[in-house]
Amino acid sequence: MEKASPEILLSKIFDSDYRKVSPTLVSFLSPDTKSSLVLYYRQSSPDREAPIQYSPYQNSESQALTLDQVEKLGKVNNLYFDIKQIPSTEVDHISQKYLESFKNLDITTPKGLKEFSRLLPNYVDDSITLPAIFSSPSFKDTILNITEKFSQLRVDSASEQLIQLDPVTLAHSLGTTFITFNFRNFLDSPQLYKKRNIPDELAQSLLVELPPQQLIFSCLYHDLGKYNIDPDILHKPGKLDPDEWETMKTHVQFSYDFFQNVVKDNPSFPFQTGLLSILQHHEDDLGTGYPNALKKEQLPLLSRLLHITDIYHALTSKRPYKEAYTPQKAISILKEDAQKGKIDSALLNIFICSLEFPNK
Ligand SMILES: [Fe+2]
Ligand SMILES: [Fe+2]
Repeated sequence: MEKASPEILLSKIFDSDYRKVSPTLVSFLSPDTKSSLVLYYRQSSPDREAPIQYSPYQNSESQALTLDQVEKLGKVNNLYFDIKQIPSTEVDHISQKYLESFKNLDITTPKGLKEFSRLLPNYVDDSITLPAIFSSPSFKDTILNITEKFSQLRVDSASEQLIQLDPVTLAHSLGTTFITFNFRNFLDSPQLYKKRNIPDELAQSLLVELPPQQLIFSCLYHDLGKYNIDPDILHKPGKLDPDEWETMKTHVQFSYDFFQNVVKDNPSFPFQTGLLSILQHHEDDLGTGYPNALKKEQLPLLSRLLHITDIYHALTSKRPYKEAYTPQKAISILKEDAQKGKIDSALLNIFICSLEFPNK
């Protein structure tokens, strides 16, 4: 088995080579999760003399691009992609997927748009700019730090196991990590949260409960226990029967036990908070979750946040039994859960803000 040094883990996460050989990870960076590429549209001005402008689709406040900058974008069928993070050989594949993902959506014709009038759906795509997170030093440093601590504790096997997970679960683990870290980043950026009228005190009080190392540890490894689930159940293209469902639920305990064994020998295990959230990521505020049917008051913020981001990522991803839902559909499902009291509406609202949807 490949030895998972921090460098190898990082390269698995960041290297384009890995994306090339792993279709699922490519799709993680493409429309199957509808969350990564920056799309630009070409906008003609009513004034014929004015230059054509290219603007990022998801953010009308952003500066339009100059023609010079456009040269650096990948283009297929009048879609323009920021391909800084993606090898040009993959642009065709990714563009194709983008087009497919738009095909069946409710489509309107945004004013002033030409080429896109038939292609763009009437929602603003999930605009988490993953490349920004990829290059965030604090993100990389935190992962390096975690894997270094693993090596001191002699649990390199955790990283090895993570890399060996099936591609869907690996992509989900990474995707959930990015989305959750993005939430933390949002609360750590006054220029972003002030625009959404989130008070400083609220942002600060939430941040205190989301230490970056605990957050990344719990997100990366929350579904590690799926290595122990029968692949026929894990990848079943239909609904699980009750027995299969019970088996599936055990992944949480397996993830927890994997590290619990290490904790026994190392009482000062540095990721206790994160480990608890791994165990609790399928609990809900109402007490209808598993494995312990805990209620809101018994659940730390990190567990309740991971519960939301985990669902969001799963809903917006393609699975053997379903297509990738749009961010809008995923959010409306989460809002139904909030109405039932399963998740906290205030927390959900901040999560939606962190996705940078327009005023909601
Ligand atoms: Fe899970
Ligand atoms: Fe999960």
